[in-house]
Amino acid sequence: MLIAKARPSLFLFASILVVDPHLCSSLSQSPRSRRDFVVDSVSSIATASTLSVTTASYAGLSNASDDIISTPKQLTLPPIGVGAWAWGDSVFWGYDQKNDDELKEVFDYALKNNLSFFDTAELYGFGRSEQLLGKFRAQCQTKEEEDRVIIASKFAALPWRTKSDDVVKACKASMKRLGGKPIDLYQIHFPGSWSNEEYWDGIADAYEQGLVNAVGVSNYGVDALRACHAELSRRGIKLATNQIQMSLLYRWPLENGLLDVCKELDVKVLSYSPLALGFLTGKYNKSNYPSGPRSKIAEQLFKDDSFEQLLMTMNEISTKHEASVSQVALNWAISKGTIPIPGARNLKQVKQNLSCLDWSLSEDEMKSLDQASSKVTGFITPDKNPFPRKDVNTGLKMYDS
Ligand SMILES: *[C@@H]1O[C@H](CO)[C@@H](O)[C@H](O)[C@H]1NC(C)=O
Ligand SMILES: *[C@@H]1O[C@H](CO)[C@@H](O)[C@H](O)[C@H]1NC(C)=O
Ligand SMILES: *[C@@H]1O[C@H](CO)[C@@H](O)[C@H](O)[C@H]1NC(C)=O
Ligand SMILES: *[C@@H]1O[C@H](CO)[C@@H](O)[C@H](O)[C@H]1NC(C)=O
Repeated sequence: MLIAKARPSLFLFASILVVDPHLCSSLSQSPRSRRDFVVDSVSSIATASTLSVTTASYAGLSNASDDIISTPKQLTLPPIGVGAWAWGDSVFWGYDQKNDDELKEVFDYALKNNLSFFDTAELYGFGRSEQLLGKFRAQCQTKEEEDRVIIASKFAALPWRTKSDDVVKACKASMKRLGGKPIDLYQIHFPGSWSNEEYWDGIADAYEQGLVNAVGVSNYGVDALRACHAELSRRGIKLATNQIQMSLLYRWPLENGLLDVCKELDVKVLSYSPLALGFLTGKYNKSNYPSGPRSKIAEQLFKDDSFEQLLMTMNEISTKHEASVSQVALNWAISKGTIPIPGARNLKQVKQNLSCLDWSLSEDEMKSLDQASSKVTGFITPDKNPFPRKDVNTGLKMYDS
């Protein structure tokens, strides 16, 4: 009863906080109280945390069954994708149905260039983003084109979802919104405070039932990634991806070993927020802050000369390549071995962003970018992100950056 009553506000809360944690935690005061609400309710249920599962107890599993992993349906991802969070999201992005034609142009452009990899989620626009993608795919001219579209969606680990079957049900609902075809990549959007093992079972079930062609996670830290990878391996399923925040303004995964572990396990990394809310596009400078809530972040960032230094470095490189500053940020993420998924809401954005593939950064340029960016204090640290740190039942560390 209680949960049912709390559901709408929680759902809204989750959709706001979870899809862009850094935006919320650094921007608004109001979600703070909602966050506390959930954190409180989570920890009160959680006080009796039991059994502590360490990485070591999973280590034996992690490669024992490599040879039985079969991936009948190969997932081939392009070097860059398109994030579709803003598609259909009116809460944050001021989406309006009037925008649909522009979004269709984005879709068509990506398809024409064989970069039609779209990342969506059931939470984005409460299903609207998935529906739009499903509609656009159905409008493809040929079957060949339709088959070339790769759609990744996500299961939201909401607190009242506790069974593997909850994943399968959510997956079927996503599939339906996407037009009924199997989902190319189905990810767990963020760790739960509990039921994580049930979710792994759930994505594995969805895979075995042919509802999805590959499975992944998102916002998973090192220990959680190893554990999930091991559990899926036991069922002969490959963990394809971990979608994490990473950019020149958010280097934690490089520094805390997460990126290395993804490589070790051959888990592809999708890097979200590669342009850091627009602060890596070169649009903003000391005398030109973004309006709205992001102006506070700008204040914080520009207090520090090192951010301007980073922008100058990016500027020099972009000028040399006759490219945009955004492209420098995206190419940096690509050179780090990740697949960035910048959002795109119109043709100009998608064109300019995707054409970062026309050139690449030299080793020296990577070095100067790394040097400049490691001096900047980003505007968000992992501890400000609202994801559960631990599974309260197993003690498994779920999130670290
Ligand atoms: C697992 O990998 C480790 C290190 O790579 C190796 O020492 C060990 O023999 C492997 N175990 C199995 C069962 O293959
Ligand atoms: C599209 O790209 C994929 C890999 O990213 C490649 O396998 C495929 O052949 C390409 N298709 C076309 C029509 O270019
Ligand atoms: C800051 O950005 C504005 C708008 O893009 C631009 O006109 C101005 O020249 C920039 N100022 C500096 C110091 O780069
Ligand atoms: C790339 O896309 C982002 C939106 O994700 C946009 O803010 C930026 O302006 C685009 N870059 C260019 C050079 O158009």
